[in-house]
Amino acid sequence: MTQSTTARLIGKPVQRKEGREKVTGSARYVDDITFPDMLHGATVRSTVPRGRIAGIHFGDDIPWNEFTIVTAKDIPAKNCVALLIEDQPCLADGVVNHPEEAVVLLAHRDKYLLEEARRAVRIDVDPLPAIFTIEDSLAKKEIIWGDDNIFKSFLVEKGDADAAMATAEVIVEGEYETGAQEQLYIEPQGMIAQVSGAEGVTVWGSLQCPYYVHKALKGIFGLPAERIRVVQTETGGGFGGKEEYPSMIAAHSALLALKSGKVVKMIYDRAEDMAATTKRHPSRTRHRTGLTRDGKLVAMDIDFTIDGGAYETLSPVVLSRGTIHAAGPYLCANVRVRGRAVATNMPPHGAFRGFGAPQSVFALERHMDRIAETVGIAPDELRRRNFIHQGETLAVSQVVREKVDMEKLMNRAFELSDYHAKRERFCAENARGGAIKRGIGFAAFLHGAGFTGSGEEYLASEAAMEATPEGRVRVLAGSTEMGQGTNTIFTQIAAEALGIDADHIEIVQPDTAHVPNSGPTVASRTTMIVGKLVESAAKSIRQSLVESGLLKLDYSAPEFGPACARYIEKCGALKSFVKYRQPKDLHWDDEKYQGDAYGAYGWAVYVAEVSVDARTAETRVDDFVAVQEVGTIINPVLASGQVEGGVAQGIGLALYENVVWQQGRMVNGQMTNYIMPTSMDVPPIRVHFEEVPYERGPAGAKGIGELPLDGTAPAIANAIAHATGIDIRKIPVTPEALAGLMETVHA
Ligand code: MTE
Ligand code: MOS
Repeated sequence: MTQSTTARLIGKPVQRKEGREKVTGSARYVDDITFPDMLHGATVRSTVPRGRIAGIHFGDDIPWNEFTIVTAKDIPAKNCVALLIEDQPCLADGVVNHPEEAVVLLAHRDKYLLEEARRAVRIDVDPLPAIFTIEDSLAKKEIIWGDDNIFKSFLVEKGDADAAMATAEVIVEGEYETGAQEQLYIEPQGMIAQVSGAEGVTVWGSLQCPYYVHKALKGIFGLPAERIRVVQTETGGGFGGKEEYPSMIAAHSALLALKSGKVVKMIYDRAEDMAATTKRHPSRTRHRTGLTRDGKLVAMDIDFTIDGGAYETLSPVVLSRGTIHAAGPYLCANVRVRGRAVATNMPPHGAFRGFGAPQSVFALERHMDRIAETVGIAPDELRRRNFIHQGETLAVSQVVREKVDMEKLMNRAFELSDYHAKRERFCAENARGGAIKRGIGFAAFLHGAGFTGSGEEYLASEAAMEATPEGRVRVLAGSTEMGQGTNTIFTQIAAEALGIDADHIEIVQPDTAHVPNSGPTVASRTTMIVGKLVESAAKSIRQSLVESGLLKLDYSAPEFGPACARYIEKCGALKSFVKYRQPKDLHWDDEKYQGDAYGAYGWAVYVAEVSVDARTAETRVDDFVAVQEVGTIINPVLASGQVEGGVAQGIGLALYENVVWQQGRMVNGQMTNYIMPTSMDVPPIRVHFEEVPYERGPAGAKGIGELPLDGTAPAIANAIAHATGIDIRKIPVTPEALAGLMETVHA
């Protein structure tokens, strides 16, 4: 094999597979697809947070007989969107539990008349008391879910946190908060559905997880698996926001299609998408940390709570990741992390890049800077004294097997950002007065790639590969492309393993009728977990050819095609099929919440430089350095893109993106008043990869997709604290929030 000596495609900026279609506008997103005689669908939603539905009133002047109208009564089987449990109805029946909950569906050929009709439906609700904060939910001001408003709680324990805390020379406490954040994918949610007696239910749409939608539709329609088909259309970003919600809109469009007998398209506009779909879970984290006088961690007691909204959806798994990441890349013998996801009468919060970790990492990395100040050592010195090393155990009692060197990453990040010199210089300059205060701060963090705990074992993902007589190779997986690079990464992995050119690889569009279930495209798992399956499938094709004697071991690319042709002629289809098998040395205890939480982690240190205008309380990020170790880099352009995009979203989380709630409803659901960073607000992001091949990853790669979200906001918050001396406890640090804090300091 040519490949064994030097990689031909790994580490190369191979062009994005679907790039040409995207930039020329020929890529077909769901709203570009039309069917003859197609109807449009719309959703009538609850305007109150909680109550009993007393009646549905259809206003005058609308030709209602032309409309298809669907309510909960029209659901053929179960009225629930199956996810982890079955608490969320597909359409509210009798009661509503959050604003924007779907109650009635309408379809009509004329989009504009449809919108008028939607406005003419009034849902009368007898209100019930509702709750909107973590505090009220925990205090059981109203019981709105289960017996105690708690969707899920976890307890991670290592050593004896109470006993150790009693011996600590220094104790530092703190409470930290993060707000909701909207994914703001470029393409809002959308689906097209067709229901026919012969074929069952088919949906096409913008989504991350074809088999999640498949599972939900099976339950709602009461159909066997083979009568449900889910096809992913070109997807304009997901960022977690198209993880669970697409099941809802798929079900709604399919219910309208069933009742009307026509194809139905539902496309949310930006306002509906912002108001009704999931956002990042707001969080509150309390830290109590015991240390020796010289800053060695002795005990960590962490209470991490997230607001799940009105239904459970994915909150338990978001909570799980946030809980496990709450103690960071540090060694501490005694740790207790309590995690809770609670119910409020808000639209359910859901997956968003980082999946709970950005929330708990923000708290920890702000807290570490506060500890350093209390103990009287530099923030980097505090980290250095406590960083985890190979062979030591994390809070979940996982022994780190990777060759982690956090100190090296930190030093590299400091070198690239000129951290030490700037830290001193800014202090001196700020002390001289002047309106512009400058600061530099950093965060150190880790991010587990793949599903948590036994998740990958349960998923048991599958992938397949097929070669044609022309020597073209098709990759079959349910993993979706949403801008992060699945198509290109799979191509590079497969082409490298087969010793052929990238343009000989074809990625089959995810369609549950044709591709195996390779698991959801979430948890930064696609490259590391599914990519490994693709690599194995390719190796198995190669092996079939070599063992059949049609290809010599040391072949060149032009020999591959003819060998495939001869093989297919002689032996039939040239296919391979692989299934994930959990490595025997990974153990996870779901009861104790201990063990190998993740097969591998990405490790990182991010440095942010900011200036704060003391007159307007506006913060700008002036420079950003992102240093990470995520195994081998398969495509440097895509990998840097993941970091740059993640940092930009992290800047939004830290400074701008503020959801304003009123009675559980987002009231600033427009891009004019929900402020996200533009290119003007994003500094040059200097990305550096410290490459340490991960032996179990494809070509040595680990996951990268979500990591950048974890460390960006705390690095910025630490830089603001350095610039202003203000103790930042809550993000986003909008000018309004910072102005308020400055007033209290000066009062
Ligand atoms: N990058 C782009 N361009 N678009 C996206 O929707 N989603 C993020 C991240 N990067 C996303 C993205 C999220 S939330 C996850 S979990 C990972 O990509 C998923 O893809 P991966 O498994 O290939 O990392
Ligand atoms: Mo990503 S939040 O796991 O889709």
